[in-house]
Amino acid sequence: MDHRYRAPDSPEGGLGDSAAVATAAGPAAGSTPADPTPAGSDPAGSDPADSDLVRAARGLPVTRTPVWFMRQAGRSLPEYRALRAGTAMLAACQDPDLVTEITLQPVRRHGVDAAILFSDIVLPLVVAGVDIEIKPGIGPVVADPVRTVADVDALPPLEPERLEFLGTAVRSLVAELGATPLIGFAGAPFTLATYLIEGGPSKEHARTKAFMYAEPAAWQRLLEHLAVSAAVFLRAQVDAGVSAVQLFDSWAGVLSPPDYAARVLPHSRAVFDGLAAGRAGEVMVPKIHFGVGTGELLPLIGDAGADVVGVDWRVPLDEAARRVGPGYSLQGNLDPAVLLADRATVDREVRRVVEQGRAARGHVFNLGHGVLPDTDPGVLTHVAELVHELSAR
Ligand code: CP3
Repeated sequence: MDHRYRAPDSPEGGLGDSAAVATAAGPAAGSTPADPTPAGSDPAGSDPADSDLVRAARGLPVTRTPVWFMRQAGRSLPEYRALRAGTAMLAACQDPDLVTEITLQPVRRHGVDAAILFSDIVLPLVVAGVDIEIKPGIGPVVADPVRTVADVDALPPLEPERLEFLGTAVRSLVAELGATPLIGFAGAPFTLATYLIEGGPSKEHARTKAFMYAEPAAWQRLLEHLAVSAAVFLRAQVDAGVSAVQLFDSWAGVLSPPDYAARVLPHSRAVFDGLAAGRAGEVMVPKIHFGVGTGELLPLIGDAGADVVGVDWRVPLDEAARRVGPGYSLQGNLDPAVLLADRATVDREVRRVVEQGRAARGHVFNLGHGVLPDTDPGVLTHVAELVHELSAR
């Protein structure tokens, strides 16, 4: 029986999925590594570790291309706005019941192949005691930005004991989701450093770069601090049962390849390495690494140690597959703005992304960045259905 979390009226009811398994014929296009799945296990059965998302991330055959949307939980959903009314964003992120319900909303509504934990990249800093607020329509605002070497040294460490609420939320979600995988996440050291140094969202990230050039030793300590905090945050999620993790380095695309390689990449790698060291006997969950505007960085990004490289809409997936090289799956890359266009355009662009994704060893369909707040949720549901229909094997 299919334990996947589905709405009662979902078109993907339990029996429908067994039919999909019966017809699951071939491997995904591209290379076909040996399947280490134990004999007798069911590729679309009740274990999220055997889900299409996890299998695509590892470059294994899938029943159909898995799809989820960055920022699928959030302001595009009226049920989200209703539930969030009267609760500040960062308070909501620390309430396990709210986190569970908000995380499940898009899974119920769209029939996507993964849930992503409702949280925020700045949460580990907040839990550690840094004064940050998420202002509606603006984003994270830091009360006392990091501007000096002393500010770096004064940053409080993230104590794992403070993350109990996170373990509670993840465990309750894993129980509710059944075979649908839950993706955990953290912000990468560079992207978190931009918020700490700029004090809030920024276009140019000039202060961040100036600090990086002018204070190389303090920069290194800052990124080391943020790498440890990201690893602690991810470890709590992995221990509580998430099926995959994503590291968001949203703003890394503002860097030149040499600066990225020398001053940022080693710290993102430290996050993945810290996780991969793992517990005794642990099979590490697949790791996804995402940034915006990273076209020139793609050949480097794989080196950080993820299984899946996220790509925005600027580089077609077949070209991205060439740039990252073999050994990685890709995630992306429909332009979120396309979802605001007419249906014929949406369908044409979805088809193109699914086609170009076949060049990778595995493809997780997603947007090139988060869902825009004005998006009609019905279009997201349609895209999830269309991706499934186009890729069913
Ligand atoms: O993807 C999901 O549905 C899971 C939840 C999630 C949120 N933030 C919830 C959120 C995830 C994965 C994030 C990650 C995040 N947060 C990133 C990386 C992804 C990206 O977009 O590049 C970044 C840079 C942040 C920092 C941040 N938090 C920004 C820039 C904003 C947006 C400000 C705005 O209002 O447009 C936030 C707030 C935020 N995080 C919201 C949500 C649902 C909006 C809060 C609200 O309802 O007002």
